[in-house]
Amino acid sequence: VNGALRNGPLAGKHVLITSGPTHEPIDPVRYIANRSSGAQGTALAEAVLALGGNVTFVTGPAAAARPSGARVVEVETARQMADAVQAALPADAAIFCAAVADWRVENASDLKMKKDGSGTLPALQFAENPDILATVSQGDNRPGIVIGFAAETHDVIANAQAKRARKGCDWIVANDVRPETGIMGGDENAAILVTADDVEEWPRLSKDQTARRIAARLAEELS
Ligand code: CTP
Ligand code: CA
Repeated sequence: VNGALRNGPLAGKHVLITSGPTHEPIDPVRYIANRSSGAQGTALAEAVLALGGNVTFVTGPAAAARPSGARVVEVETARQMADAVQAALPADAAIFCAAVADWRVENASDLKMKKDGSGTLPALQFAENPDILATVSQGDNRPGIVIGFAAETHDVIANAQAKRARKGCDWIVANDVRPETGIMGGDENAAILVTADDVEEWPRLSKDQTARRIAARLAEELS
């Protein structure tokens, strides 16, 4: 219903997109997070909408603008994101762009933690968060196409291929985020599309262009 083009190549297709960071509370005023801006996720949603798709956009607390025309679901933690994703299924395709926190603080405090004057330091204990992409890829309600992202600093292709196989998704969009590439936190990507039997190195493109290319490939695959 929210597609921009009723006759676009993604008309009638429901595409679920996760985006942004997650925040994992330490206490009511503190949290653990990461540097994801959500820019690539918003660009992807806009590209899918422009091809006529219906988008459910599940986002953590991201700085980027929300895509207008999408059904937006705001969450804070990885576990909330996992629940929101399950509630949004079924979908024809799912794109997991979120930088999900790998760990949450298991002993988060209900009250603000205070210095007790003795110099004792807080001892945070961590628990691993659910892998949302792997759960959906291997679940009963699996969308026809499941796409993950991977930011890597070494052995980019080998790591992305291993990640794709381990999680059970169809494609991984990998990026080399070593500091000298300037990709982390920048406006551009140099994506490597890793599929079951292929590796495609894309040129350096803006996040918007990368998003349009992914959406076009998705439309081809779903047609
Ligand atoms: N992902 C997810 N849920 C998680 C962790 C990751 O859905 N708890 C998704 C991300 O949205 C991304 C893909 O999995 O599409 C790969 O994320 P990445 O952090 O590269 O993979 P990890 O399995 O967490 O491995 P690493 O140890 O390299 O961080
Ligand atoms: Ca991770």
